[in-house]
Amino acid sequence: MDHINCLFNPCSIAVVGASHTEGKIGHTIVKNILDCGYTGSVFPINPAGGEVCGLQAFKNIDEIPDPIDIACTVVPARLVHDAVLACAEKGVKYNLIITSGFSEIGNIEEEKKLVHTARAHGMRIIGPNIFGLYSADASMNATFGPANITPGSVAIITQSGALGLAMIGKTAVENIGLSAIVSVGNKCDIDESDLLEYLIQQQRTKVILMYIEGIKNGVRFIHSLKKATRVKPVIVIKSGRSARGAAAAASHTGSLAGADEIVDAILKQCGALRADSIAEAFSWCTYLAHAPEPATEQTVIITNGGGVGVMATDACERYEIPLYNDSEALNDIFAPVTPSFGSTKNPIDITGGATAPEYSQALDAALNHNKIGAAMALYCETAIFPARDLEQMLEETSRRFDERGRPVLFAAVGGEDLEDAIARLRRKNVPVFPDVDQAVACMGKLFEHYRQRRYRSDTFEDSVIDTKAIDAVTAEARATGRSFLSAGESRAIMQIIGIRMPASCIARSLDEALERCSDVGYPLVMKVVSPDIIHKSDAGGVALDLNNSDEVIDAWQAIMQRCQEHLPGARIDGIELNSMIEPGVETIIGARRDPVFGPIAMFGQGGIYVEVMKDVSFRALPLNRLEILRMMKQTRSYPLLLGVRGEAKKDIEGVLETIIKIGALVRAIDYISDIEINPLVVFEENAGVNALDVRILLATQGKDPS
Ligand code: ACO
Repeated sequence: MDHINCLFNPCSIAVVGASHTEGKIGHTIVKNILDCGYTGSVFPINPAGGEVCGLQAFKNIDEIPDPIDIACTVVPARLVHDAVLACAEKGVKYNLIITSGFSEIGNIEEEKKLVHTARAHGMRIIGPNIFGLYSADASMNATFGPANITPGSVAIITQSGALGLAMIGKTAVENIGLSAIVSVGNKCDIDESDLLEYLIQQQRTKVILMYIEGIKNGVRFIHSLKKATRVKPVIVIKSGRSARGAAAAASHTGSLAGADEIVDAILKQCGALRADSIAEAFSWCTYLAHAPEPATEQTVIITNGGGVGVMATDACERYEIPLYNDSEALNDIFAPVTPSFGSTKNPIDITGGATAPEYSQALDAALNHNKIGAAMALYCETAIFPARDLEQMLEETSRRFDERGRPVLFAAVGGEDLEDAIARLRRKNVPVFPDVDQAVACMGKLFEHYRQRRYRSDTFEDSVIDTKAIDAVTAEARATGRSFLSAGESRAIMQIIGIRMPASCIARSLDEALERCSDVGYPLVMKVVSPDIIHKSDAGGVALDLNNSDEVIDAWQAIMQRCQEHLPGARIDGIELNSMIEPGVETIIGARRDPVFGPIAMFGQGGIYVEVMKDVSFRALPLNRLEILRMMKQTRSYPLLLGVRGEAKKDIEGVLETIIKIGALVRAIDYISDIEINPLVVFEENAGVNALDVRILLATQGKDPS
């Protein structure tokens, strides 16, 4: 990425396919470049020569005497390869291929050919299937979108071209100034990670907004996103939350949308802020582009209406905004500016009789107290304090907060005059919103961004894996193309990596089982051993709490009969006898190799209802203790580990260690595709954990038994 600066600040641009006809894409791009005030050289290329937008058109790119930094290719798909070759031979550094008709419609080979040709000459490609690029630094609008882009501090990277063009229009309406907007299209070469790397260090960009449908290189994306969110807020709209949406996204862009739970977890892990809609993303962008870093998160709500105060309080809980609640201090600060029938408890209700100067005094009282980090002022339009008085008050208050580096925002609810006032104030970057929830969400996202910057650590824990010993255990399975490990092999692997399992043996016959029972010890558990049955409980292949030989005989016969009924003809190698362990909290721990994001860890509520409860969380590996703990806390059942209803706290450290070990195993052994321990029984603090059942799958072509 040596030259990426020149993509955003080129000295010269060639438009290949610059049309003489007004309204055509190749004409609009030349016109937009000139209209935006670009001061570098612009070279239209058209085989007919002549003039395009008053500039001399060259018949071929090789006729241009000057070096060319970027080319916009706007010729039909069948002509693109030759055009790309000519650009590459000319020494063009970046080629923005606007043309559609490549991998998004299945024309994959032609797209690969473009990359091959470009790479051979050191040229990089953006697209194909894009609307172009706008860069405020270079006053360059090399897009066929609207001509009037307001320069500013928000950078947009979008995978959808049409949506990107629409966003340009919408940002103008919403008064959001752009530092850059880039469409990545089919991402045959340059992708969002390359662009993030550039935008991280670009001074003008204060907030990055990304619209993503599918991610191709997830491991690299995680790396770049983590780096970016350390420096500036990154807001992500990732479509394809629903299964149907994901299918539509995949067919639209030619890349696969990852499973949404995993994407969601990874965005959080990387410190990005995920928005559900364009409106939400835009309001966060406008606020985060200008708001200062809070010194403390202690917040006060000042309101002239009790109802909106309650709504804001609820929203604060949802967006994890701590409300300052030292009632004595609150009374000292706000009693002088609150009527006796108001309330100095947070939310501070200065009542419907409050006037503009009274509002202003209350906000100044908050500003002058150093334990209060941020303020939210809610305003319901009244006859005592009409909209016309609000405008000046908000502008001045907002400036005073800015000067002192304190975040503030306003929510104002009322009629037409108020809406007009809000629009005027927003044009001056005063953070005022027509809705309480929208305002509170912005503050919540500001806190979330700085919180992850302060507390996130990207160092990670690892555990040394004896790869030779693992290879020896798995040798037979790999040699025969088996896609899963047997119970005995899985147990051997758990022993190598140091995860405890109950005492156990495998009996090939009922007589052998009766002989071995005393070695294992009563009470015991019996589990079917079959290469065809992996979900043993579903097949009726498990019997618990067996206390004597009669119960073992009955259980043996019942398991054999149930398994044959469940899967007639299933091969049964015997029955595993396990000592029955003390009860504890049943968790599930897993690790798998995700096709997009690489190794992923999972934690959740374990046992036989895993699929019904779906109480699991994910993270990309490797992880540190803090992030593992966050992953665990994200589940609804985490409080069970803390001990509920007088129960003792459980061995959370044991769970952490187990996740680190299986994470290290999947990272070290690339032919292991999935590991699942279910249940991992967690005992009281310092008493450890015990893996009752382990399932390990291999990345081979073999058939996965069910
Ligand atoms: N070198 C340079 N110019 C050439 C060459 C060449 N080898 N061959 C032809 N041209 C000229 C043509 O003569 C023409 O100029 P003219 O109008 O003065 O005669 C110009 O290049 C354009 O060629 P056309 O054949 O007229 O192509 P047209 O403009 O109809 O379409 C386009 C080209 C726009 C690239 C089209 O093929 C296409 O892909 N459209 C979709 C673009 C798109 O939507 N991209 C995704 C954006 S994101 C979103 O979804 C909105």
